[in-house]
Amino acid sequence: MNKTDKIFIAGHRGLAGTSLVKTLRAAGYDNLLLRTHAELELEDQAAVDRFFAAEKPAYVVLAAAKVGGIKYNNTYPADFIRANLYITANVLESSRKHGVKRLVYFGSACMYPKVCPQPMKEEHLMTGVMEPTSVAYSTAKLAGAVMCQAYNRQHGTQFLPVIPATLYGPGDNFNPEQSHVLPALLRRAHEARLAGAPALKIWGSGNPRREFLYIDDLASAVLFLLQKDGYTETTNIGAGGDLSIRELAETVCRVTGYQGRLEFDASQPDGTMCKLLDPSRLDALGWKAKTPLLEGLAATYKYFLDTCAGK
Ligand SMILES: NC(=O)c1ccc[n+]([C@@H]2O[C@H](COP(=O)([O-])OP(=O)(O)OC[C@H]3O[C@@H](n4cnc5c(N)ncnc54)[C@H](OP(=O)(O)O)[C@@H]3O)[C@@H](O)[C@H]2O)c1
Repeated sequence: MNKTDKIFIAGHRGLAGTSLVKTLRAAGYDNLLLRTHAELELEDQAAVDRFFAAEKPAYVVLAAAKVGGIKYNNTYPADFIRANLYITANVLESSRKHGVKRLVYFGSACMYPKVCPQPMKEEHLMTGVMEPTSVAYSTAKLAGAVMCQAYNRQHGTQFLPVIPATLYGPGDNFNPEQSHVLPALLRRAHEARLAGAPALKIWGSGNPRREFLYIDDLASAVLFLLQKDGYTETTNIGAGGDLSIRELAETVCRVTGYQGRLEFDASQPDGTMCKLLDPSRLDALGWKAKTPLLEGLAATYKYFLDTCAGK
């Protein structure tokens, strides 16, 4: 990859996109093509094709998607599958037509079966039924990964699907209605400290294990993979390990300064006990995540204090 090549980052203002822009610029890749949703509607095939014809990007990172929490996915499944299928189909087809050299497509760990051997290997995709609450979204994400490989087979393109673990970092969504467990815990521990609450209640036993990938690690992996000319295997991007919800909550307390008790409500459902990506493919290529959770959480909490606290 050449430092002067044009790189289109679709979704550059999202959680992943923001870090990609920062990471690529820091590595000297300044020729970035960036369009907000208002400037370029990726569901509009004609608009996408006009953009590719005019700008001729050499590389594409498809980090734009309609993303939402369980509640939104469950309430608007048609919107989620439709938007994501259109975005992917439009960007992949225009990338093929206009000679993009390499494209990285973001899948998601929800593409794996709900019941899956652990750690989850790429070959476990399509071996079982997905989690029903987000099946419309997950099916669109999976279709995107299949579409990448179909284009590679039929057209000789280099479209690389990656499957990142749950992301966190500055820019995260702290809205209590929409946030996933990590930003939700950060916010609740912060509020419990301010309120002087003696205990912080947490749903479930605290034993389920989860994996969280810091956004700068994701961006570093994507830059690494963009440079791997010829490599198109569907690839997990893991955080290098998981931790229990209890360990996560304890680390969140250290970062936020909350000193009360943790009270686990074991009468609430735990969900899947373990959800961990197998990082062997990326390990074998020579890349590993490097941000310790404490460091990533501190940066995320700083972002929360600067932008969301009290709102
Ligand atoms: N977040 C995670 O934990 C996670 C984990 C694994 C995989 N992923 C995958 O990583 C990718 C990025 O996720 P993210 O968390 O960074 O998402 P995000 O923060 O919601 O950002 C998505 C971006 O895409 C843009 N976008 C959405 N629909 C668009 C459209 N029709 N036309 C143009 N732009 C559009 C959004 O702009 P507006 O906000 O203006 O609409 C936003 O800037 C997604 O494919 C997701 O499936 C995410």
